Amino acid sequence: MSNEQNGGIESTLHETRVFPARPAKELGFDAWHVGTIDAYKDMHHRSMHDPEGFWREQAAAVDWFTPFEKVLEWNAPDAKWFLGGTLNACFNCVDRHVKAGHGDETALVWEGEPLGVHTGHPAPGSNYEKAPEIRRFTYRDMQRKTARLGNVLKSLGVKKGDVVTIYMPMVPELVVAVLACARIGAVHSVIFGGFAPQSISERMVDAKSKVILTADGGWRRGEIVPLLKNVATACDTLKGSGDAVREVFVLRRSGQDVREQVESIKAGGARVTWYHESVPEASDECRCEPMGSEDRLFLLYTSGSTGKPKGIMHTTGGYLVYCAMTARLTFNLIPARGQLFWCTADVGWITGHSYVIYGVMANRVPTLIYEGAPNFPENDRFWSIIARHKVTQFYTAPTAIRTFMKWGDDLPAKHDLSSLRLLGTVGEPINPEAWMWYHAHIGRSRCPIVDTYWQTETGGHVITPLPGAIATKPGSCTLPMPGIDAAVVNEQGHELPPNSGGLLVIRRPWPGMLRSVHGDHDRYVKTYWSRVKDPRTGQPFYFSADGARRDSDGYFWVMGRVDDVINVSGHRLGTMEVESALVSHPAVAEAAVVGMPHEVKGTGVCAFVTLKPAWLKAEPGRAPDDALKKVLGAHVAKEIGAFARPDSIRFAEGLPKTRSGKIMRRLLRDVAAGVQKITQDTSTLEDFSVVAKLSADED
Ligand code: WT7
Repeated sequence: MSNEQNGGIESTLHETRVFPARPAKELGFDAWHVGTIDAYKDMHHRSMHDPEGFWREQAAAVDWFTPFEKVLEWNAPDAKWFLGGTLNACFNCVDRHVKAGHGDETALVWEGEPLGVHTGHPAPGSNYEKAPEIRRFTYRDMQRKTARLGNVLKSLGVKKGDVVTIYMPMVPELVVAVLACARIGAVHSVIFGGFAPQSISERMVDAKSKVILTADGGWRRGEIVPLLKNVATACDTLKGSGDAVREVFVLRRSGQDVREQVESIKAGGARVTWYHESVPEASDECRCEPMGSEDRLFLLYTSGSTGKPKGIMHTTGGYLVYCAMTARLTFNLIPARGQLFWCTADVGWITGHSYVIYGVMANRVPTLIYEGAPNFPENDRFWSIIARHKVTQFYTAPTAIRTFMKWGDDLPAKHDLSSLRLLGTVGEPINPEAWMWYHAHIGRSRCPIVDTYWQTETGGHVITPLPGAIATKPGSCTLPMPGIDAAVVNEQGHELPPNSGGLLVIRRPWPGMLRSVHGDHDRYVKTYWSRVKDPRTGQPFYFSADGARRDSDGYFWVMGRVDDVINVSGHRLGTMEVESALVSHPAVAEAAVVGMPHEVKGTGVCAFVTLKPAWLKAEPGRAPDDALKKVLGAHVAKEIGAFARPDSIRFAEGLPKTRSGKIMRRLLRDVAAGVQKITQDTSTLEDFSVVAKLSADED
């Protein structure tokens, strides 16, 4: 199916299923925060017609030390929110709850990587089959721990406004570290533990950060992630320069011998301080520093269109108000109602910042974190965690869901998932097949699914179903969050009619938006606020770099990054749509589609496909062969249109992914274009493991 608008031709999957919102009580909630479509519409309407009043109200959910005087100062593209107000993010996530008499409630539940069975490194008293290592922390515990660490950081010379780098495993001390920084007014810059030394030094230099918090190692699939070793290498690169690291603070987690690394760091001129030698001695008294609303809360590096990662800058008041509001509305968070929220993301990503820590803790709902991997010790780790802890809201990525599909329906079926009330997805468009599988096999056809569209830059969800109000359609992130003026426009900034693809923009500022790219405000202006303008006023729109369309119900369908949208014979085609079509074939587990140079078409479609082993085995004669390529090509043509039929289909062992689970499209594009050679093994399958390793961190 296609339609022609503004010179572009759009393709659409025939997705017509609609899942109405259900009564809260049927799912185990007392009530919905927003319980009807009319309530949602009123709220959104109000936020557009009286934005200052709307945001003033939302800001009241946060505890301010000094009330703000002005809601917004907007000198496009520079926004200042809640001017004159002071607050502290750690206070709002921790101390406020203690002060209100909830000090003994659970704030954080942690489950460590199960040690002992496979690793030969048994943790004392822990055995996966019997009892994985679990630790629980109350708000009072968190208050004491953040205060102590805050004092230690101060003793290391960390001052308000300094950037503290955090490179730690998924252990409770990581959450403590983030909040301790917020407590004393230091700006945290968390680096995901999967990043290599070069990425650490690069980010520390860019942020002018001299202090790093890390661990001797973290556990992943029975192996130790050499965090301190990577830090030592990063320190070594920087030693003697003006960017040399000054303080290395180390948590003992793996217990391995790291004397060599410690000596090397010291020899390079940095000081090494151990958590267990400093934190227990420190005082519990450490005030939550009053921060100006627009004082920086954190930097978070993310890859852009250039090779150099950008330090996305978020500030205190606006970010906190926004992520607390979105967490509450999207996940229907209600304190003291037996909820346990589990977002599977690593704290090293924005999802972990907003929906492991700040948004959830500010709402006084316990948050669960886990260390390890979904497939260790077994492929059912996630389902066993949900059953063991009685998780009520579960939030993960489509990539993970597709992997689970591949692993088979029997794994979730083995576990009691009846505690679940709501499911969420984030990070990429979800194909309807994965959505339906998630719905049936995890949500047991009961739980609403919130497909949350947002970005590191937006601070929190910007387009998402509100579960009590908005009917869902598999593959659509549905409607804008109250306060968000999202639109699909053409290059001239004109809003497009239904079912035409265009640029996804946000037409007015919101509190959770990034304020700058650290050290490069120009890049901020150019990347986000220069591409599209309001045709009437000339004011810039926020440009998401995503393509999207809205359907006749106004629902948004994100087609993916504009740089992933390819132009085939003048037909604009979302690579995601072709993937979706491929994955809807029973043989296909995962698919990644990229553009490739094509003599006639300009850009041709190249599809990398992994197959379901069970499908291959089910009948004799099934194989990754040319006949199957024809079948899949015809299937795509049927689902989308002949122009979308891949010019090349390549079967692979697995798709190359970054540590964060994103498919490495640039690498695939290079392979498709013949720029990168991969090692062809003896079978008909391509093996990406070698090139994937060479291509390091990010795509
Ligand atoms: C990009 C942002 C923000 C959380 C994690 C990713 C894509 C994100 C969705 C969704 C379709 C999505 C977009 C966006 N994306 N969520 N629900 N549906 N696409 O953060 O690394 O900053 O990536 O992820 O392309 O621009 P990020």
